[in-house]
Amino acid sequence: MSATAAAAPAVPAALAAVLPARFLGWGMAVPSTVVTNRDLEAVLDTSDAWIAERTGIRQRRAAATGDTTAALAVAASRVALERAALDPAAIDLTVLATMTPDSTCPATAATVQHQLGTAGAAFDLNAACAGFTYALHVGAAGLATPGIDHVLVVGAERVTSMVDPTDRGTAILFGDGAGAVVLGASEQGSSGPGLLGVDLGGDGSGVASLHVPPGERYLRMDGPEVFRRATRAMVESCAAALARSGASPADVDLFVPHQANARIIEATVSRLGLPADRVVVNLDRYGNTSAASVPIALAEAADEGRLRPGAIVLACGVGAGMAWATTLLRWGA
Ligand code: UT7
Repeated sequence: MSATAAAAPAVPAALAAVLPARFLGWGMAVPSTVVTNRDLEAVLDTSDAWIAERTGIRQRRAAATGDTTAALAVAASRVALERAALDPAAIDLTVLATMTPDSTCPATAATVQHQLGTAGAAFDLNAACAGFTYALHVGAAGLATPGIDHVLVVGAERVTSMVDPTDRGTAILFGDGAGAVVLGASEQGSSGPGLLGVDLGGDGSGVASLHVPPGERYLRMDGPEVFRRATRAMVESCAAALARSGASPADVDLFVPHQANARIIEATVSRLGLPADRVVVNLDRYGNTSAASVPIALAEAADEGRLRPGAIVLACGVGAGMAWATTLLRWGA
């Protein structure tokens, strides 16, 4: 290589959609019951000040008896389908990300499909808090298959049913809810909306740091260990998705991270060099809703007008496993 060529400024490659997909609709649903930090103070050895300072969470939603995972998923999906102005029968694939299915068999997606009247395939995907970002990849990849023109991607959880109400290490963190997006096949190719770069990963050496032990009912978590692993995974996975897309942090119009702990988000933003006003944070109101956290944050951002057509969005989920999935995407219908 000549010295002249080596000194030439790099020409930034246009951000190309490797998995074209239109974002046709979005929606969210949360149970009506609000549990504040003050409510938890009354039943646990904790305080509003400790929870707010160490996590950023101020309240979360808790499912009532009728708020099954399927019911939350259906409610969020109805909003997304209406926004897409799409007949449910036009959906060819439903992917439901959840670690709290209503039953171990069959998939909760079957109930969701039946209640909505969607067509085609339906299955659950469990990658814990990374479930929705995994499902987004599966859904967008599915659109490359002849016969799959519309995909419903949902994240829905009833995490409170998996949490020991007497364990202050976990009971303060989690909440229930659902979010959904409707994807459509795109004729616009790499210059249109879709996924620009994806980083999927996992590290099973972290299983015991956050799990429901076999035969038991409740989540057990080594909080500081999960905190360290989750922060490292979020930073590295976001950096990998950006690099794979040929993008830099400055290209990101909106960062939609998993809502586990404000300190994890702050560390990621600072290490990646993302401007703080381009970050969606709603964990103060919903806590950690596992696979529902990214689609709820996405839906709120879209409702607030923070997602214009063409916006570049970095969406990252990290959770038990450890499992992580990050997507840089171009928004638009
Ligand atoms: O989606 C992925 C799932 N989970 C996560 O991402 C969670 C990751 N971890 C975390 O967010 C944090 O580790 C926690 C919020 C769970 C805990 O915060 P921390 O700053 O790591 O606290 P710690 O466990 O190191 O405990 C510090 C102190 C301890 O007291 P001493 O030993 O210093 O006297 C704890 O006993 O805080 C105490 N503590 C509490 N105090 C009041 C722990 N939990 C609580 C609590 N209220 N709820």
